[in-house]
Amino acid sequence: MAAGRQRWSTQIVAGSERSPGVLLLRYRRHSGGDDQVGATLGASKATKAATGATSAAVKWRRQLERGQMTRPQSTAFEMSNKNKELMNDIFTNCKLKNGFGPSVQATAAATSPTKRPLSPDHPNPALPITETPSPAMNRMGWALRTLLVADNSSCLKDRKVSGKLIRKCAPGTELVDWLVNLSPIVHTRAQAAGMWQALLEEGVLAHVNKEQPFKDKCFLYRFRIDEEGGTAAAGVPQAEDLGAANEHIREALSALFQRGPDATLRMILRKPSHERTSEELELVFEELVHIAALSHLSTSIKRELSSIFVFEAHAQAGTILFNQGDEGRSWYILLKGSVDVVIHGKGTVATLKTGDDFGKLALINDAPRAATIVLKENNCHLLRVDKEHFNRILRDVEANTLRLQEHGKDVLVLERVAKQRGQHSAFKYTVMSGTPAKMLEHLLETRLGQSVGGMDPFLDDFLLTHIVFMPVVQLVDELANYFHCDAHEDAQTPEDREYIINFKKRVIQFMQKWVMAVRHAAFEEPSVCDFIEDLAAEVEADPDLNEETSIVHNVLTQMARYQEDRNQNAGQKWKLPPNGQPICLFSGNATPSKTVIRPDDDIIFRVYCADHTYCTLRFPMHTTAELIKACAADKLQLNRGPEDLVLVEVKSNGERSVFKDNDVSIPTGLSLNGRLFVSVKDHLDALTQLQEQECPTEGVDIDLEILSTKELAYHITLFEWDLFWAVHEYELLYHTFGRHHFGKITANLDVFLRRFNEVQYWIVTELVSTPSLSKRVGLVRKFIKLAAYCKEYQNLNAFFAVVMGLSNMAVSRLQQTWEKIPSKFRKIFQEFEALIDPSRNHRAYRVFVGKLQPPLIPFMPLLLKDMTFAHEGNKTSLDGLVNFEKMHMMAQTMRTIRFCRSRSLGLEPPSPKSEGEVRSYISSFRVIDNQRVLTAMSQKVEPTRKL
Ligand code: CMP
Repeated sequence: MAAGRQRWSTQIVAGSERSPGVLLLRYRRHSGGDDQVGATLGASKATKAATGATSAAVKWRRQLERGQMTRPQSTAFEMSNKNKELMNDIFTNCKLKNGFGPSVQATAAATSPTKRPLSPDHPNPALPITETPSPAMNRMGWALRTLLVADNSSCLKDRKVSGKLIRKCAPGTELVDWLVNLSPIVHTRAQAAGMWQALLEEGVLAHVNKEQPFKDKCFLYRFRIDEEGGTAAAGVPQAEDLGAANEHIREALSALFQRGPDATLRMILRKPSHERTSEELELVFEELVHIAALSHLSTSIKRELSSIFVFEAHAQAGTILFNQGDEGRSWYILLKGSVDVVIHGKGTVATLKTGDDFGKLALINDAPRAATIVLKENNCHLLRVDKEHFNRILRDVEANTLRLQEHGKDVLVLERVAKQRGQHSAFKYTVMSGTPAKMLEHLLETRLGQSVGGMDPFLDDFLLTHIVFMPVVQLVDELANYFHCDAHEDAQTPEDREYIINFKKRVIQFMQKWVMAVRHAAFEEPSVCDFIEDLAAEVEADPDLNEETSIVHNVLTQMARYQEDRNQNAGQKWKLPPNGQPICLFSGNATPSKTVIRPDDDIIFRVYCADHTYCTLRFPMHTTAELIKACAADKLQLNRGPEDLVLVEVKSNGERSVFKDNDVSIPTGLSLNGRLFVSVKDHLDALTQLQEQECPTEGVDIDLEILSTKELAYHITLFEWDLFWAVHEYELLYHTFGRHHFGKITANLDVFLRRFNEVQYWIVTELVSTPSLSKRVGLVRKFIKLAAYCKEYQNLNAFFAVVMGLSNMAVSRLQQTWEKIPSKFRKIFQEFEALIDPSRNHRAYRVFVGKLQPPLIPFMPLLLKDMTFAHEGNKTSLDGLVNFEKMHMMAQTMRTIRFCRSRSLGLEPPSPKSEGEVRSYISSFRVIDNQRVLTAMSQKVEPTRKL
């Protein structure tokens, strides 16, 4: 979408939900210089379409009567034959009081029909549903009137009502009598009344005061032609007219007979609920059964809907039903005709047809309308449910899945989810999958700009995971397009301007939330910084965006802080010491704590070759394996082309793992005592580990016994808090999907994970390298206490590492040692082991950690397992759409990290005994990470007892 995005401007003259205007939209495309009128329908084309639909319906009806066809679901709302009979019975049996009664709708009477919109809030069943009668209806009306006027005994007479002369009018009862007598096909009075109503709903006939639909009562009705007066109305018909009318009457009666039941049904659906009789409701209910959009609803809900569905008819193609951005007030089912779904910046994205429904997204999400709905044809018929009824009856039972299409393809799939705590609405649609651009549009159009306070979970998920499906550069491009949606506008109406300003505000809000969610990572791409600066300049220059200046300034300040920090720490160098010690800062201006490893920081490390000679290299962290390989081969004079070489890690147990050429973050990704080798591909098997890899890594030599356990736990926690703090949530994504997909480093996460292994193997190394039994017993007790303190400090990463170290096979087999551990300690240790028990997906730990409040250091390997589980168990793309459920799962895990760090660490320091020593000791442990070596050492200190 980015560069080639077409721009459409919308000129909206008037019209909104409930008071639609006519032919109001003009869409202009701004891709080239050519203006293109897009959505205004040619009336002739639309009329043709409508006529086509009518004749098809008649044909269908005839076929139905001949029993040649079964009724399809969700065609135009025309009554089933069974119900026609039912209705005929109802009306035949109804004991209606004839004669003039009080006005049914006093308000309707007071309002001039000509001034009323065709489908107001409360449609008036006394008024026509078309602007003008169709030629066919006009002709039917003409034939009936001609015969009525020619009949001397006819009821059509000039009458005086309340002192006023009304020409050629007749009471409903007499019109019904006449029709029943006229035709043998009309068996019941109700059938006749329906036929007159069919004429009334097209305006061929009308109640004299426009207050009543057709009723078999003494209300007076007259033909439109007589209302207008003129020559056509005057006098007795000529013989040739009479002949023509007689010739036409059979066909006219047959057509009216067909239309009568539908006209009656539409009349019922335009009456206020309280005026619908139980028989009428039954009739409506029977018809709702045939509507596909309601097929998933229960009988009781359909019964409820029978009383609140409102029938709307719109005469003109081009009418706007509602506008994008409007408040959602109703849900609609299209009974006849078609509508265009129009989106700012895109034009018409979909056309909905008979049987389709629309408009529940805004109702369920309490969000603005996601699109403008424009009638594509003349004479569209809709069923409407208003918001209050929708909320009461449908909100909780509405279909679970909503699919939005554009140009015939799914672009957004939403699913209804149960209310989350603190949410304002009972149920919300959440995004299950979508195209990246549509999801962004959905966010900007409907999820921003209204709620204050907390972050919308969908927005947060999107911000945390968009790098998987929408690279930053593309996101910025899209945002810039949205922000500059008025760039090609010459003249703007006030409505346009308001819409555009609101949109700009939402882009600014999005930017603010983006920075809030991902912090400095948002500024790492230069295009983002450029965009923010542009944004700031435009906001300052636009008085309509006055209120947004503080938001933009805040973002600018954070960006400046990030840039300052970056400049200050530029040129940071790290070192991977040769003897397996942890990665350490080699030179740089950064404060020793909370130092983040950045992609362009240098790292110094060794690369070995098969004969164990090595070279020392210095490269930025983001350097690819391919470059490192080539450079090392050159320095080590391997004289082979890059295609023959591989970069490989040889672990302390001799295991080899080859790096992909496009992988980055290589030195930090090594295991504790692993070494980096460059090798000829074919000689990979010849690589052996260095002798030093079997020895402990270099660490501070100190007598552990003299160090305070609490102080150890305290400094381990401070140290690990800093490492944890430096890890960005994005690193979890890079780690899970593979760094090479993003070209981004995971150095901070690597260092944190290395630390976990370091602590774990330190425990084992210390124990198996202590020959004295009593000292070993003392150490085990110390480590159990250490685990307890780590747990108390909520450093669960270290807690796991210590307990796992104590459970290591090389330690658990030290029978003599464990026998001497007091039962109190053994019990505590058992409890700890139960806590790290991996069964039922680490349930014990999850329950425990779920009760903790931040700050806390989580057991990181489990978070990575959750990420991997989500990744491997779910496809990233489903039928060409981003599987956003997967993104949501991943974002949940990423949010855990945010939660753990949401409060700063403020531990009470234990009274210091040997602070300096402890600090230097815990920063680099002596560690053997080769299980075979550890087990052998364990055997040595406690040989297996012979039975
Ligand atoms: P709502 O947002 O309430 O109002 C506009 C309606 O258009 C929307 O609900 C959907 O029901 C319907 N619609 C159909 N296709 C799309 C689409 N591609 N994008 C947005 N809305 C659509």
